[in-house]
Amino acid sequence: SEGTIILGIETSCDETAAAVVADGRRILSNIVASQIKSHKRFGGVVPEIASRHHVEQITMVCEAALEEANMDWQDIDGIAVTEGPGLVGALLVGISAAKALAFAHQIPLIPVHHIAGHIYANRFSAEFQFPLVALIVSGGHTELIQMPGHGQYELIGETRDDAAGEAFDKVARILGLPYPGGPEIDRLSAETEPTLSFPRAWLEEGSFDFSFSGLKSAVTNAVHNAEQRGAALEKADVAASFQQSVIDVLVTKTMRAVKEYKAKQLLVAGGVAANRGLRQAITQAAQNAGVELIIPPIHLCTDNAAMIAAAGTINFLAGERAAMDLNAHPGLEL
Ligand code: KG4
Ligand code: ZN
Repeated sequence: SEGTIILGIETSCDETAAAVVADGRRILSNIVASQIKSHKRFGGVVPEIASRHHVEQITMVCEAALEEANMDWQDIDGIAVTEGPGLVGALLVGISAAKALAFAHQIPLIPVHHIAGHIYANRFSAEFQFPLVALIVSGGHTELIQMPGHGQYELIGETRDDAAGEAFDKVARILGLPYPGGPEIDRLSAETEPTLSFPRAWLEEGSFDFSFSGLKSAVTNAVHNAEQRGAALEKADVAASFQQSVIDVLVTKTMRAVKEYKAKQLLVAGGVAANRGLRQAITQAAQNAGVELIIPPIHLCTDNAAMIAAAGTINFLAGERAAMDLNAHPGLEL
C-alpha cells in the first residue's frame, strides 16, 4: 500500500492549488494555478479578484491533482486545507471546497496553518531532525520558529512591521519594477555588487525580531533624493544594496538562533527562500556553523498545496480533525 494519502488544498492568497502527497514525504501530484497575471496590472494582489479566480479554478485544480496522482476518492485518507492566515475571501473558497469534498466522499477534514505548510515543504527534501530552527520569509511573514518535534512550533522572533517579501515588493515598486517584486530584485541584484549603504535593523541586544520599514524608507529617500538632484541611482545597485541589507539581518539572526537553540537542522521556507542571494549566504553560514541546512527547491518555496498536504499529514496522524463548521482565520497564530 501507499501509506497515508492526503489531498492538500491551498487558496490563501493568489495561487489556487491542490496536491496529493503520500506519507507526508512523497509528492504524487502538485497542481498550481497562478493568478499573478491578473494581479500584475494592479501592482499587487486584489483580494476580490483573487477570490473570484479561486472559485473558477478550484474544482478543476482538485480534479487534476487526483488524476495526475492516479487516485480515486476512496484512496484519499484525508483532505487538508489551509484555514489561515491569509485573505479571508480567498481562504473561504478552499475551505468550502474541502468541506464539500470531505462531506460528499466521507473523508476526514484536516485544518492546516499556512506557515506550518511552508515549513513542511522542506520534508520532501529530508527527514526532520529535532530540535530545529526554521526561518520563514514570505510576502506576509518573517518568523523564526523553534521546533522540538513534529507539529510543535515555538515562535522566537517575528517582524514588527513589514514582512521580508513585502519589503522586496515595495522596493521593487519604488524602482518601477513589476509585481511580484522579489524575483525582479533578485535578478537585478545578480548583475552587480552592492555599493550603497542602507540601514540594518538589529533591534535590542539578543532580540530575534525583525524590522524592515526603516530600510524601505531609507531606500525610498535615497531614490527620491537622487532623482531630485537629477542623478538617478543605478537600479541594480539599489536592488543589490537593499537585498544585501535584508540578507545580512536574516542570516545573522537565524544563525544566532541556531546556536542558542542548539538546532540539529536549519530550515528556510516561504517565497523569499527562492532568493538566490539569500540561498547562497545562508548555505555558506550553515556550512561555517556545521549545521544541516534544508531549503526547498524554488517551486516549493512559493505557495503550493503539496506543502499543505505534508503538514496536514502530521495533523492527520496526530488525530486532528476539523468539524463541518470550520471557518477561515485570516490572522491565525501558529
Ligand atoms: O510564500 P509566498 O509565495 O506567498 C506568501 O505566503 O506570502 O511568498 C511571496 C513573496 C512575495 O513577496 C515575492 O516577492 C517573494 O515571496 N519572492 C521573492 C522571490 N521570489 C518570490 N523574494 C525575493 N527573491 C525571490 N527570488
Ligand atoms: Zn505563503
